[in-house]
Amino acid sequence: MSDISTLGYVVLNVSDLDQWESFATDILGLQVGQRTDNSISLRMDEREQNILLERGTADDLAALGWEFDTFEALREYVDELRAKDVNVIECDGQVTQSRKAERVFYCIDPEGLRHEFFTGPKIAPLSKPFRSKVLVSGFETGRLGVGHTFCIAQDYPGAVKFATEKLGLRLSDYIRDSETFPGVTVDATFLHSATGRHHSIGLAYMPFPKKMHHLMVQVKSLDDVGLAFDRVRKAGVPVVMEIGHHPNDGMVSFYCAAPSGFAIEFGWGGLVIDDSTWNVRTYSQLDDWGHQQPGK
Ligand SMILES: [Fe+2]
Repeated sequence: MSDISTLGYVVLNVSDLDQWESFATDILGLQVGQRTDNSISLRMDEREQNILLERGTADDLAALGWEFDTFEALREYVDELRAKDVNVIECDGQVTQSRKAERVFYCIDPEGLRHEFFTGPKIAPLSKPFRSKVLVSGFETGRLGVGHTFCIAQDYPGAVKFATEKLGLRLSDYIRDSETFPGVTVDATFLHSATGRHHSIGLAYMPFPKKMHHLMVQVKSLDDVGLAFDRVRKAGVPVVMEIGHHPNDGMVSFYCAAPSGFAIEFGWGGLVIDDSTWNVRTYSQLDDWGHQQPGK
């Protein structure tokens, strides 16, 4: 099967664009590429857009943008998905333009989550380099993509099956943790794409009112995680989990509440998978250390 290269972008449906603009730029260190009445393009690197905020009432993940290196690879993938009875449709010109890409297709999965498949992301001109107001390093993007998402599935086994058997995402590992939350076992599956960020999507079932629990963005220095944590606390942004370390992707990160209610994981040091040597494991805890919920 033609392979997804990486998770190239995400689209978020947000109700308060003004609050998001200051959170994204002043706290997280992203840059506004373009703002319209109903959207904001957020930049993390030389691309014109890595995250698209669209005005709406859902305050949730609106689409995952799966990237292909060439149109031929994308075309082949779309044909294969259709052969597997997935209803894949090409996006119209307006949507394609809003994604700042050459060609975009989409499907809706059984959970109602919109997956987009694209090629040809627009690169900003040299005269408009990425500049963060606050980062001392930069975002870890490029071949590894925008970051990762952790999504809630009402039919968790069904969602894993769709992601692996239909979308062709590869198994990274599992976490089955019955200790972190008393009386609740968290069962999560982590999946990666060809370029190997440890996971581009994690799937689990847990009581949570949104499709997306968190979006992770990764920086190139540990100092940037600490500095961002200081900015979060100084600005009074709610901390969801303090700094800690995950056993599976090796990420040192903290979680804070985005203006839409889901969380942003801000991390450093995530593993990159080499499929020729990778062993799938099952971990029994979500965290090696830290990631305490404030006040607990
Ligand atoms: Fe995460």
